[in-house]
Amino acid sequence: MDVIEEFIKNQQLSKREYEEILKLWKNPEVFQRLSKEAVKIRKQHYGDRVFTRGLIEFTNYCKNNCYYCGIRGGNSKASRYRLTKEDILECCKNGYELGFRTFVLQGGEDPYFTDEKIADIIREMKSEYPDCAITLSIGEKSYESYRLFREAGADRYLLRHETANEEHYRTLHPSQMSLEERKRCLYQLKELGYQIGAGFMVGSPGQTLSHLAEDMVFLQELQPHMVGIGPFIPHHDTVFAEEKSGSVELTLFLLAMIRIMLPKVLLPATTALGTLDPKGREKGLAAGANVVMPNLSPVKNRKLYELYDNKICTGEEAAECRCCLGRRVESVGYHLVNERGDAVK
Ligand code: 5AD
Ligand code: FES
Repeated sequence: MDVIEEFIKNQQLSKREYEEILKLWKNPEVFQRLSKEAVKIRKQHYGDRVFTRGLIEFTNYCKNNCYYCGIRGGNSKASRYRLTKEDILECCKNGYELGFRTFVLQGGEDPYFTDEKIADIIREMKSEYPDCAITLSIGEKSYESYRLFREAGADRYLLRHETANEEHYRTLHPSQMSLEERKRCLYQLKELGYQIGAGFMVGSPGQTLSHLAEDMVFLQELQPHMVGIGPFIPHHDTVFAEEKSGSVELTLFLLAMIRIMLPKVLLPATTALGTLDPKGREKGLAAGANVVMPNLSPVKNRKLYELYDNKICTGEEAAECRCCLGRRVESVGYHLVNERGDAVK
């Protein structure tokens, strides 16, 4: 247990030490110790407040072909949709009335949405909702594109690194994609003044505890403002259709570790966590998470944004999701707040 106490004291360890802690993930006492500390740290910085982000899944077209993802370009069975700018603004209007002050534009890497189109959507959202933060989650782009979006008013950018191990990265993605390019994007986004979010799936095929220790070291080095992690869940039309899902317990263990390592980080209790366990998001909050990301996409499109099987919240209206999550958050002693929810300085 010495290594646990050292971690809690110094908040930083070597790869070897992270791996040593990760090997204890099935030990309930270790998890108790870590999550107790994580909740304490979370309380110090954020009290009992939970931030919300209104997620707008505006296109499920994608030119990439990541082996784990249901909307990968190579999935000819996926039925594709795009929202118009008017649809997107309608989602924002709906969301604003429900109290959302952050909108996340998430989509596949869809060439139809040129940089100019994206910048135009951002400008319009910003001019109608100047008090809201805009988060983009639209994949790998050039420095110039990122700069254009930033100048148009985007505040934050989510781009999970997926795994910090080169070899593992290659087994999850086709050869056109590389970890090096992902990292280039993340560092450039940071340089451009975005609040950045990295992250990874827990239990993706081939992942080892040593890989997860590398993810911890990478996050320690990158110092992102946000970290999105959730269990891997197979999708029936992917290369990984027959693989096992990731573990909810290991995800919770990692959430606690990340909170301790990056005390002020914005850490969502993800939809994937809620999909594998009906109380997954509540457990995530109780392990150190402080953000939830309900869906604002039109109900008719929701099922089509199917990254993995059995995704929850695909039948509910935005207002229902907001209320449902509000109750869930209260059930573990926290409160949803209607604010932008920037990371504390
Ligand atoms: N299971 C869990 N998460 C997934 N993602 C993509 N496919 C899956 C899956 N099958 C995650 C990736 C991506 C984010 C938008 O969703 O980490 O970055
Ligand atoms: Fe979406 Fe419960 S959070 S229905």
